[in-house]
Amino acid sequence: MWQNELQPINFANRRKKFLQSLKKGVAVFLAAEHAVRNPDVHHPYRQESNFYYLTGLEEAKSIALFSGNQKLAFQLFVQPRDKDQEIWHGKTIGPDAAKSQFGADAAHPSQPESVFDDAFIEAMKQADRLYYRVGQDRVFDQRIFKLLQRAHRERGRTGRGLWPICDPTELLAEMRQLKSKAEIERLQNAAHITAEAHINAMRVAKPGMFEYEVEAVLYHAFRVHGAGRLGYPSIVASGPNTCVLHYTANQRRMKDHELLLVDAGAEYDYYTADISRTFPVSGAFTEEQREIYGAVLTAQKAAIRLARPGKTLPEIHQTAVEVMVEELKRLKILKGATKQILQKKEYRSFYPHGTSHWLGMDVHDVGHYYEDETSTRHRKLEPGMVFTVEPGLYFSPESNAPARYKGIGVRIEDDILITSRGAEVLTSGVPKEIEEVESLCSQP
Ligand code: GLY
Ligand code: MN
Ligand code: MN
Repeated sequence: MWQNELQPINFANRRKKFLQSLKKGVAVFLAAEHAVRNPDVHHPYRQESNFYYLTGLEEAKSIALFSGNQKLAFQLFVQPRDKDQEIWHGKTIGPDAAKSQFGADAAHPSQPESVFDDAFIEAMKQADRLYYRVGQDRVFDQRIFKLLQRAHRERGRTGRGLWPICDPTELLAEMRQLKSKAEIERLQNAAHITAEAHINAMRVAKPGMFEYEVEAVLYHAFRVHGAGRLGYPSIVASGPNTCVLHYTANQRRMKDHELLLVDAGAEYDYYTADISRTFPVSGAFTEEQREIYGAVLTAQKAAIRLARPGKTLPEIHQTAVEVMVEELKRLKILKGATKQILQKKEYRSFYPHGTSHWLGMDVHDVGHYYEDETSTRHRKLEPGMVFTVEPGLYFSPESNAPARYKGIGVRIEDDILITSRGAEVLTSGVPKEIEEVESLCSQP
């Protein structure tokens, strides 16, 4: 369902919840840096997901400092305004507006470095641990490590100040895993736009066209409906490329009677869809393609039927695998006892990936797969969780598959929202039944 009037994201509420879970900890989040493409040209900017989730601020060179145990709970450090730079790149927020527009208790310039450094030392005096993701920026890592040494020295011989460093995703994963109404609306819009793009792709793809022409059709639909960018590079894979799981070159010319596997998703206001469809470029599946497509579709539908509160992703995967194994036996691609095939995972050469991943701001979203860090019990599905169901079968030309199936790869992927009543397929707008797909593909 397309939403025109989106509920605003309540960043203040997110921060409130986050600060509660932070307890006596301090958390530091670093904005994404501009990635250099070539000397003075950058890749399109996208804010780091955790930073955006808590602040809503889309500026590089910013730092967010959270303190669960002092009055200045949320401080922002942003680049000082620079009139010369603003002539080229437009206005930046600057410390004053950062405080008023982004709800910070205090906002400061990020230069000179001593401004953040002193605030960090002050915050650590009240803290029992630091939440900071090591490895995002090595230079900043070194700065943080030096600051911790300084803070430690300044505590003197108190026996305090040996703070553990924890990954903040530990706290945010739980919050980001359970989607609010406002987040679901964004995911619905991403799904809706992506569905239209896939339908357009099915309509236009023809033998003789290049994969990148279909990629362009997808991108057009995304942008024309206001999706900010791709959730991940589009996979537009024809013929034998359908067997390459993350093929993104998209340079090949499609031939008669081949399949085209499209795996593409629009990102709408920081939330992404993730849809795969596989269809015949000549308008009708060959007999072999139909057999494989039917096997994947049967498995996918069985897996989706299981999705509801209380189930787990491994249960959904197991259903997909078991159905697929029966189908592969029926097609005489696998032989022998089902129990042994499952135990020895003999299907793995044709179905080498999992069935589901969490979906949200990141295509492979944060979220707990187990009940806790050390548990072996899988997380049960709850209302508000969003994930994909995407079984696939791939018979690469180099595989030991029967010759008639070689070069066939099929993946069918939908996005599922768990609700209190069961599950909603957010991406049901893209047809997947054989007759519907053939009918769309053969439209002039
Ligand atoms: N598009 C990446 C995936 O399906 O996981
Ligand atoms: Mn996926
Ligand atoms: Mn995908």
